[in-house]
Amino acid sequence: MAANKSLLLLPGDGIGPEVMSQVKRVIEWMDRRRAVRFEITEDLVGGAAIDAHGVPLADATLEKALSVDAVLFGAVGGPKWDNLDFKIKPERGLLRLRKDLGLFANLRPAICFEALADASTLKREVVEGLDILILRELTGGIYFGEPRGITVLPDGTRRGVNTQVYTTPEIRRVARVAFELARKRHSHVTSAEKANVMESGILWREEVQKLHDAEFPDVRLDHIYADNCAMQLVRNPKQFDVIVTDNLFGDILSDEAAMLTGSLGMLPSASLGDADESGRRRALYEPVHGSAPDIAGQDIANPIAMMLSFAMALRYSFDMADEADLVEAGVRKVLADGLRTADIMQKGTARVSTSVMGDSILLALDRLAA
Ligand code: IPM
Ligand code: MG
Repeated sequence: MAANKSLLLLPGDGIGPEVMSQVKRVIEWMDRRRAVRFEITEDLVGGAAIDAHGVPLADATLEKALSVDAVLFGAVGGPKWDNLDFKIKPERGLLRLRKDLGLFANLRPAICFEALADASTLKREVVEGLDILILRELTGGIYFGEPRGITVLPDGTRRGVNTQVYTTPEIRRVARVAFELARKRHSHVTSAEKANVMESGILWREEVQKLHDAEFPDVRLDHIYADNCAMQLVRNPKQFDVIVTDNLFGDILSDEAAMLTGSLGMLPSASLGDADESGRRRALYEPVHGSAPDIAGQDIANPIAMMLSFAMALRYSFDMADEADLVEAGVRKVLADGLRTADIMQKGTARVSTSVMGDSILLALDRLAA
């Protein structure tokens, strides 16, 4: 018997627990129908952890995250915790997990499902068949750079500072992941920065180019200014294959790319660390959408991004490509059958709740696996 696969579930706040409970059903389904057993632990993060422990990520939770094969993360934050001190805001829990697990490579695929090509605010011909991957650097840049803070100046006015900083190794390791991923796709990497105004952007561009020339000359490499990249994403997104970019530009460009697919509720992500001697990478999987407090607790959230995040875990942490394909096929099937949560509703489709979407995906899995 293979060793159990360990998973830490951190549902978090808002719609996090609702979408995570649908994934739990898929995990149970895997156990029942595919004899794939996961060893599950669950814990608190974000506002839920603040309420219980006074901090958005307890040390004991971080210890668990460091010991499992993969973390499945829901979402954090909500108005209840908005006015807390910055250092203990719910988001800090997520940022600490990313940093302390060393998850520098954030994969954010933007795929337009055929059935949703009309749900995007962009024209069908612009997004139909779209399949791009944004690779966001996740543990460096302005999110973590020092100095940072708000100080009061002698005249009583205030000064806010954040620092964009990247080193050669930080740029090279994420660029390497981009080139390796591109080789398994369409062998095209576009690197986005602001080398026209930022020194860190110049360094970024030079290091990506150097690594390319030395080790990945077979991959096509283009450089693009991040603002132009934002424009090209809505003008002609299918020109891209893999986009590699820093932490802040990646945050923005991935939200933009999400809307090409019809809804933020559709987008999964994987955050990976360096491989250890056995080839195992620390990993955290999370939907790109947030906690959506305005619709929390109403059973109307779209669980698909969370489902697809689990599929990414199957693919990247557990080497279970067949099962990952199956979950993705299940999602495609219910969309093709015309079932929609509120965020992706269109004329002629049927509106379903979070839990009915879960029921339908399980039913689709039953049929596909029969
Ligand atoms: C994301 C989110 C986070 C980020 C927030 C919640 C800290 O927007 O994962 O894209 O800015 O990285
Ligand atoms: Mg974001």
